[in-house]
Amino acid sequence: MQAEQQQYNYDVVKWFAYMAVIYLVIGTGIGVMIASQLAWPVMNFDNPYISFGRLRPLHTNVVIFAFGGSTLMATAFYVVQRTSGVRIWSDKMAWFTFWGWNLVMLGAVITLPLGLTQSKEYAELEWPLDILIAVVWLAFTINFIMTLTTRKVSHIYVANWFFLAMMIMITYLHVINSLAIPVELWKSYSIFSGVQDAMIQWWYGHNAVGFFLTAGFLGIMYYFVPKQANRPIYSYRLSVIHFWALVFGYVWLGAHHLQYTALPDWTGSLGAAISLAMIIPSWGGALNGLFTLSGAWDKLRTDYILRFLIVSLAFYAMATFEGPIMSSKTVNALSHYTDWTIGHVHSGALGWVAMVSIGALYHMVERMYGTKMYSVKLVNLHFWMATIGTAIYITAMWVAGIMQGLMWRAYDEYGNLAYTFVESVVQMHPYYVMRTFGGLIFFLGAVVMLFNVTVTIRRAKANPSPEMATAANI
Ligand code: HEM
Ligand code: HEM
Repeated sequence: MQAEQQQYNYDVVKWFAYMAVIYLVIGTGIGVMIASQLAWPVMNFDNPYISFGRLRPLHTNVVIFAFGGSTLMATAFYVVQRTSGVRIWSDKMAWFTFWGWNLVMLGAVITLPLGLTQSKEYAELEWPLDILIAVVWLAFTINFIMTLTTRKVSHIYVANWFFLAMMIMITYLHVINSLAIPVELWKSYSIFSGVQDAMIQWWYGHNAVGFFLTAGFLGIMYYFVPKQANRPIYSYRLSVIHFWALVFGYVWLGAHHLQYTALPDWTGSLGAAISLAMIIPSWGGALNGLFTLSGAWDKLRTDYILRFLIVSLAFYAMATFEGPIMSSKTVNALSHYTDWTIGHVHSGALGWVAMVSIGALYHMVERMYGTKMYSVKLVNLHFWMATIGTAIYITAMWVAGIMQGLMWRAYDEYGNLAYTFVESVVQMHPYYVMRTFGGLIFFLGAVVMLFNVTVTIRRAKANPSPEMATAANI
């Protein structure tokens, strides 16, 4: 442990990990706020700065880029050092990444409530912040690659492949989709327009899901599931097939977000066909993670951190089964524009992305501070709150979404629409209340985590074990 502490730069990982927990609380807190605004519009308080339209992109930016991004940066730096047996290539660049990323997030927190936006989903931030993102992301990527080149082991562990694919693709996607002509400091216009703009945006949008919310988190899964279970990954060969199939498949899917639009019809069909094929690599990966526990399922009874990791895989399998189904034109005709999409998003976002991150964050805190969590009971409580909160949220949205879709397409005997739009809105109220309640439970679970992690770190610092003494100065 002592040698390991000196060898690796854990300081930057610790800060990224702690910020990830803070951002989880903030991002889900804003999620609960916007969910309550949809249930009770009075929650907008007639104040433009905290109205739904401005807080919604803030929610997505905080949960995806602040929470998800910090988790990915913490885990990528942690995993690449440990699997390569070397310290991070440049400490300075790692700290630049940390401060730069947090500066971007601060920029988001200020500009989005002010209504400064490029109006591209998941790419709302204006051009000065886009440039900062590109620079910081490149620093992150170069540092990661250079660390790999100095590795002491010959092979590159598969988790690093997934991280690397994410880094390369996100650089490419972010730069292309953000190409814009600035007209003022906080106003720019995209260089794409019309249907090209839509296509580029959803090529970006879906690959943000595929490479940021999926490939990066699969990197986390491939390292932390075997580590926490203390068993080798079920099949290394399968993980390599999983990697190549995922990387080559995901890039073709964007058009499934634009079925029945001005886009040429064949692009939507291609998107749907490849989406369907994506069930195979996705489930291959999920099963690879789950089967790692073969013969040791009893660990789940006592290891709460492992529970987060394993349940996340069940949700991953679920979301990657649902997504391909929603891609087909027949189902998309019903699901598009409805809350079914929101249910799908959050089964992936809460069940998969958040759960796998939470498991990895608990694991790293214990490992880096050389201690056990302050309260295992609180980890257990968090697990149940996260699981129950997610289940309530997504069930509410599935029912709401399918009901919306069916109401919007219902005709009476004269061929008129059977329901007005506002009638469908009225029907949504109980489900929006239910979603707010589920979200609140999930959010309170994140608060429990922040408390538990903070106390664990403070105690570890106050009573350093012999190994911790060395850890303090790195
Ligand atoms: C307490 C937990 C959460 C609550 C209550 C919540 C609530 C919401 C609400 C109300 C919306 C807007 C839905 C609409 O426009 O109809 C939304 C959108 C979204 N949320 Fe969350 N959220 C939570 C956690 C998360 C997390 C952890 C992530 C990602 C890791 C996430 C990712 C997203 C995304 C990507 C969207 C946009 C979906 C779309 O445009 O289709 N959310 N969320
Ligand atoms: C093979 C896997 C998957 C496929 C084929 C797929 C497919 C789809 C489809 C068809 C939609 C709805 C498009 C529309 O009607 O507008 C969608 C939306 C979405 N999915 Fe997935 N999905 C997959 C996995 C995931 C996972 C694991 C996540 C993780 C969080 C995720 C996040 C999202 C998000 C954020 C959206 C909303 C995009 C938006 O409209 O803002 N998906 N997906």
